[in-house]
Amino acid sequence: MPRIFNMRDAGERRAGLQAAAAALQAGRLVGVPTETVYGLAADATNARAVAAVFAAKGRPRFNPLIVHVPSQDAARRIAVFDEPARRLADVLWPGPLTLVLPLRPEARIADLATAGLPTVAVRVPAHPVALDLLRLAGLPLAAPSANRSGHVSATTAAHVLADLGERVAVILDAGPAPMGVESSVVSIRDDRAVLLRPGAVPRERIEGILGQALRPADEAPDRPTGPGMLASHYAPSVALRLGASAVRSGEALLAFGPSLPPGSEEAAAIRNLSAKGDLAEAAAGLFAALRDLDAIGHPVAVMPIPDHGLGEAINDRLRRAAVPRAPAAG
Ligand code: TXA
Ligand code: MG
Repeated sequence: MPRIFNMRDAGERRAGLQAAAAALQAGRLVGVPTETVYGLAADATNARAVAAVFAAKGRPRFNPLIVHVPSQDAARRIAVFDEPARRLADVLWPGPLTLVLPLRPEARIADLATAGLPTVAVRVPAHPVALDLLRLAGLPLAAPSANRSGHVSATTAAHVLADLGERVAVILDAGPAPMGVESSVVSIRDDRAVLLRPGAVPRERIEGILGQALRPADEAPDRPTGPGMLASHYAPSVALRLGASAVRSGEALLAFGPSLPPGSEEAAAIRNLSAKGDLAEAAAGLFAALRDLDAIGHPVAVMPIPDHGLGEAINDRLRRAAVPRAPAAG
């Protein structure tokens, strides 16, 4: 079983950071809190450690990972920044923005982490535990979300333990991840910015900083079939019915806002993402609510959620979760 440290206890926090840094340096895997979701971290320069991430997640090999670093300077030693990339990093880092930029081969990032692409995804996370660990370990960390491939992302240490158990050496438990949806992934090449994955930084914010509209993902130069881009990815095993205006017999309800739809009185279970209709609160609780409803086991009616701001990322994850799973989707 992994060693689990309570990062909200000062003494345990130090011991946890040291144990995690030592594990990473030895090529082992660590469950790390970030401001978005928990990450399954490995030394990004160690091919065997990165291979272990794919094995632990059961993730298709060709899906590249995000490389986490403690500062923009560290990111610039791994990727080539042009002016728009610099501007986004200046404003949004540390924070939930991932930039896909040309890779510097001398950075010695393992090929598996970039799936052999000439680009690399980098981000500086805003979570104090993640930043402290990055500084202490002194390594760039490849870290996908800490869930089995195809499962809902992990937003608590308990989710990491449930999905990955003894495959991780250490889990750093800092309580629920504050934002609850993954980073926004933006590719920048030749001054063209493409939104590869909507996420915790709203599109409007990114476009405001860039002074240009983000292009749709299908205009990306060499687009990987990334996991966040597979049609069915964040999938629970129960069926989801999106945009529901009423609850049907036998359904549970995933609600949003103060007023519940007709049929709610009979719902098998109700989880309200935000009774006050707040999108940030809804994003923070989304994956935990999906895991809950999955465990309860009834098909789920999902109320409509506004598509602006964080709503774009929430609706993106819900659409993927609603796609019926192909048996070998992974
Ligand atoms: O919030 C997050 O981003 C979390 C935390 C742990 O940082 N991480 C995360 O990683 O969600 P992951 O591996 O689940 O998603 C990485 C996304 C995928 O959609 C992948 O396809 C894309 O980034 N990506 C990575 N490298 C890329 C590249 N070179 N070109 C295009 N997309 C890339
Ligand atoms: Mg993921």
